Amino acid sequence: MRKILVIGIGAGDPDYLTQQAIKALNRVDVFFVPDKGTEKAALKQLRTTILQRFVARKDVDMVAIEVPQRAAAGCYQDNVDHWHAELADRYGRQFQQHLADGQIGGLLVWGDPALYDSTLRIIERLRAKGLALDYEVIPGISSVQVLAAKHRIALNQIGEPVTLTTGRKLADGFPSEAGSVVVMLDGTQAFAQLTEPDLEIFWGAYLGTPDEILIAGPLAEVKDQIATVRAEARARHGWIMDIYLLRRSAPA
Ligand SMILES: C[S@@+](CC[C@H](N)C(=O)[O-])C[C@H]1O[C@@H](n2cnc3c(N)ncnc32)[C@H](O)[C@@H]1O
Repeated sequence: MRKILVIGIGAGDPDYLTQQAIKALNRVDVFFVPDKGTEKAALKQLRTTILQRFVARKDVDMVAIEVPQRAAAGCYQDNVDHWHAELADRYGRQFQQHLADGQIGGLLVWGDPALYDSTLRIIERLRAKGLALDYEVIPGISSVQVLAAKHRIALNQIGEPVTLTTGRKLADGFPSEAGSVVVMLDGTQAFAQLTEPDLEIFWGAYLGTPDEILIAGPLAEVKDQIATVRAEARARHGWIMDIYLLRRSAPA
């Protein structure tokens, strides 16, 4: 049977690679590289650095998988479902063409594969369609952990929950029962629209890279600063990856 190793490579710094991930990298016969065309420079750079630095074998094959654009108009869930179906077909074709029975394929996933990443769903789809494929998941250090470490904070307040969500969901308002809310994939700066008076924010961009930026403070006081810094950085780099934690300030 063919096997795929889904390897979390950490969110930015090659030093985030775990011993388990390095061992997994060195079991791989063929790396499959999703190609989004407009792939973020940081992802390309990190992947290249990791392969050069950690893979001992120099004869491993690299196979690109072209990633189609996801439709933007219409129902979000339906669009994602169609996109995953199309991706699964493309992954399946490449696995069948380039992996012989008994060989191991590798997929490098930014951060941790369990967090806002479609790779595991795509592999499950392929298996559901009857492709004989075994797989293993190697966890990675996610941007959520890096954010907490860089700001030197615990994700949760004592005995309170942590919600992981997206900018799209936060646009509906700060969840009333939530303790701490970690927001990813926010292209619209949903934090800037929140009106709760007692929120504090811990924001980070390009975490783990030489371009890292950190800003923290009461939301009302720093939200304009974050929006300005974010816009400048995005214009300078041509892209941005940012994440933040919101929570109610502890009573004085
Ligand atoms: C598609 S999700 C992938 C998350 C990834 N699997 C993880 O474990 O971090 C991409 C989002 O993760 C966050 N992100 C990932 N890496 C980041 C980094 N180095 N700095 C800031 N945010 C990051 C951003 O919110 C970005 O929009």
